[in-house]
Amino acid sequence: MKKLKIASSGLLLSILAFALSTSPAMAADRSGKEVVETVCAACHASGKDGAPKIGDQAAWAQRASKGLDKMTQNAITGVRNMPAHGGQAALTDLEMTRAVGYMVSGGKAADAKKAAKPAKVMTGEQVVQARCQECHAAGKNGAPKLGDMDAWKPRLANGVDPLVKSAIGGHNSMPARGGLANLSDVEMKAAVEFMVSKTGGSAVK
Ligand code: HEC
Ligand code: HEC
Repeated sequence: MKKLKIASSGLLLSILAFALSTSPAMAADRSGKEVVETVCAACHASGKDGAPKIGDQAAWAQRASKGLDKMTQNAITGVRNMPAHGGQAALTDLEMTRAVGYMVSGGKAADAKKAAKPAKVMTGEQVVQARCQECHAAGKNGAPKLGDMDAWKPRLANGVDPLVKSAIGGHNSMPARGGLANLSDVEMKAAVEFMVSKTGGSAVK
């Protein structure tokens, strides 16, 4: 009876499929990015249960002071509301190490298959100076100029979020992420908010 019930729910099949798809050799091939997106983001994207958020530089810097190794160890064994292996016992230590490196670097580990040292997340102003002003300072190709209220106002009709989205994805002559693929979403958002704030913008603080 019990067996039939499980089988009919399809659970047995999915457990089998899971076991097959995570044979050790294959599991070891998952990058930090893949692990974070499929497992860790469930809590670390939103900060559920007090999990340090991905991209929250301050939260991670505080924890990183104990060292990346100790932090990785805690993620493997579990600490307070952080379940061991993020609740996925099948994840190897190597995958956990990569995942922690990826998260701590704000998703910018140069090689997502290796653990990375904490990288500094750029502020909006730094991103704009490093990249966006190249077009937005002078209004190249029709880019809305920094500080040009008239150019930004109609674009801000629906608030900042759609602008962040279109800056990340690209838009007409505006290249995706301003052409710097390794800028994180958090940095893009900060950059757009900084640019908008230059209009004297009331839209963001
Ligand atoms: C069910 C929610 C949940 C999931 C899933 C989860 N975490 Fe966490 N994580 C937490 C919470 C909550 C904390 C904060 C624990 C504390 O310090 O009180 C935390 C803390 C951490 C820390 C900091 C540990 C320290 O020493 O300060 C690391 C590193 C970490 N998680 C890595 C991961 C990795 C890697 C994954 C995916 C494999 C993952 N977490 C999945 C909830 C989760
Ligand atoms: C190569 C030139 C170039 C660079 C570099 C560039 N932009 Fe743009 N950007 C444009 C142009 C052109 C537009 C106008 C596109 C349109 O609406 O037709 C634009 C539009 C935008 C918009 C308005 C989008 C909308 O939906 O109205 C935002 C926000 C934006 N850029 C943010 C950024 C940020 C943030 C950076 C830096 C990470 C950046 N841009 C770097 C050329 C550039």
